Amino acid sequence: MGSCKASYSVLLLYFFIGFCFVHQCFAIGAETNQSAQLLVDASEALSQKIPETLFGIFFEEINHAGAGGIWAELVSNRGFEAGGPNTPSNIDPWSIIGDESSLIVSTERSSCFERNKVALRMEVLCDSEGTSICPAGGVGIYNPGFWGMNIEQGKTYKVVLYVRSLESIDVSVSLTDSNGSQTLATANIIAAASDVSDWTKAEVLLEAKASNPNSRLQLTTTRKGVIWFDQVSAMPLDTYMGHGFHNGLVEMLADLKPRFVRFPGGCFVEGEWLRNAFRWKETIGSWEERPGHFGDVWKYWTDDGLGYFEFLQLAEDLGAFPIWVFNNGISHNDQVSTSSILPFIQEALDGIEFARGDRDSKWGSIRAAMGHPEPFDLRYVAIGNEDCGKHYYRGNYLRFYDAIKRAYPDIQIISNCDGSSHQLDHPADFYDFHIYTSANNMFSMAHRFDHTSRNGPKAFVSEYAVTGKDAGAGSLLAALAEAGFLIGLERNSDVVEMASYAPLFVNANDKRWNPDAIVFNSSQLYGTPSYWMQQFFRESSGATLLNSTLQMNSSTSIIASAITWQNAEDNRDYLRIKIVNFGSNTVNLKISVAGLESNSIQLSGSTKTVLTSSNVMDENSFKEPKKVVPIKSLFENAGEDMDVVLSPRSFTSFDMLIDSDNLRIAGTDSLYKSSI
Ligand code: AHR
Repeated sequence: MGSCKASYSVLLLYFFIGFCFVHQCFAIGAETNQSAQLLVDASEALSQKIPETLFGIFFEEINHAGAGGIWAELVSNRGFEAGGPNTPSNIDPWSIIGDESSLIVSTERSSCFERNKVALRMEVLCDSEGTSICPAGGVGIYNPGFWGMNIEQGKTYKVVLYVRSLESIDVSVSLTDSNGSQTLATANIIAAASDVSDWTKAEVLLEAKASNPNSRLQLTTTRKGVIWFDQVSAMPLDTYMGHGFHNGLVEMLADLKPRFVRFPGGCFVEGEWLRNAFRWKETIGSWEERPGHFGDVWKYWTDDGLGYFEFLQLAEDLGAFPIWVFNNGISHNDQVSTSSILPFIQEALDGIEFARGDRDSKWGSIRAAMGHPEPFDLRYVAIGNEDCGKHYYRGNYLRFYDAIKRAYPDIQIISNCDGSSHQLDHPADFYDFHIYTSANNMFSMAHRFDHTSRNGPKAFVSEYAVTGKDAGAGSLLAALAEAGFLIGLERNSDVVEMASYAPLFVNANDKRWNPDAIVFNSSQLYGTPSYWMQQFFRESSGATLLNSTLQMNSSTSIIASAITWQNAEDNRDYLRIKIVNFGSNTVNLKISVAGLESNSIQLSGSTKTVLTSSNVMDENSFKEPKKVVPIKSLFENAGEDMDVVLSPRSFTSFDMLIDSDNLRIAGTDSLYKSSI
């Protein structure tokens, strides 16, 4: 009897194991723990230096990322050019204060600025005395900015405008709430006719006495007469490094410690039609003289306050290399043939001279006059965007390549053609690689470069993101899959030298692409989980990649990498182990670190940072901007052998302080001794 019972239990056990094996214990819906082992070998022979440039950012003028985004200009359509060159024209988003009995507003081609001739004519019919008395607040025009101006109490705003009139003027320049009923700041421009009979620049500083995220700028008067306005700008005095960039948004970029800034697009560079593509020469010089243009891919006007110079400045302010993508004579719908491409080549060469030429050169002198006598550190250019398959791409590319290499042999040139699976048929220093896909695909793309030839040009993964259903409006799931992909790039950083997420920004009022890393409106901003995920990789550029091997069964979806890096802030050395648990089971992981002197991993100062949430589709929002953000805690198990638990659907970074006397650095033969 006894033996019969025993056999029955053994049978049940076998049945259960068999069931789990076949169904991997997922089928019954219960969460089980999985086990795995990570072996990290810090020995120098197996380590590899990660390129200094590995992680950077890609800025595109998309979703009002620049105009109404990182460029701090508050006025939209400041030169009244957005309605086109034919007058009378649409002055949107400017609107009129008053009715037709008190004023008539139209546009005319009478500006003093040759490249943007359209100006606003305002004929005021009412007066402060007589039969037709103006309303108490006056009549005039207002600009709501980009879905409301964020005016903050105590801050000062500089308003510059150009004005002309044949009579004396008294114009109130005010920042008000959205319907003009509350004045936040005001000043008057009072001038005799003789002072404004020609176009005259006027400047006022407005200090806000209250805050309102949905404000507007008003130009009003109670005096009869005709007044022309043009080039009306309102900027906060307080901008990032005083260079006109939106503090909060650019601080979020700075927090990513980007090593490069790819700009200004994307499709924005190409245009639907060449006539609407970004052309750098139209975006430099004084802001008043920039014509602005309609970006026909993302369907909005930009005054080009954020122009070529400002992009170079942004990269410099972030301590990053600029990577300029220029149009190679190809848009989405039209192309310039190789036999006619010379003017485009000259435009690119001039652009490089503008960035790097000395202050006596033709284009370098313009840069110097704009306030930057020293050259910008432009080392990389991309010939076109996503144009490889286009008829004239190769022909045009080769002409650009030869001309640039002849004039600037050190400039690194990026081709649009993918060289990851086969050799390029043309010379290049880098090839551009873009990937937008589902979460599962992105996670498996961690191995995309495992078999790429180690001899050809390097890969620049300049656009990657999880898109579609898995991405929601920026989900944890997307961030985890992207983290897996980035770990794969780190592990292949002998062939992948640069990578950037796309797109970077979205103004929530004009979402042209989903998802995006940073979401904002006039006064609020937050990072999606994909934004926060990138912060885990910012120390990888220039770090040392250690050999690491995972031992697990095939149903365990984890991926890991290990680096050592030196923290410039405390000059100390850290070992960072990053692990994505992409699966829905908890994983008990044993980590063993070999190749360091014994006891070199310090307990104090070691931390564990986790990015996860209760639901893998969780997102951040204006209401809950920090729902899915990294949570840091002390890592009490730090040592050469560690048992750690990885939550389902999580990203974990273990950061361990190492005794720098015992650290080996890739590329050196001996133990590295820190100076501290
Ligand atoms: O990142 C959004 C767009 O995706 C870019 O403009 C383009 O290069 C890609 O197709």
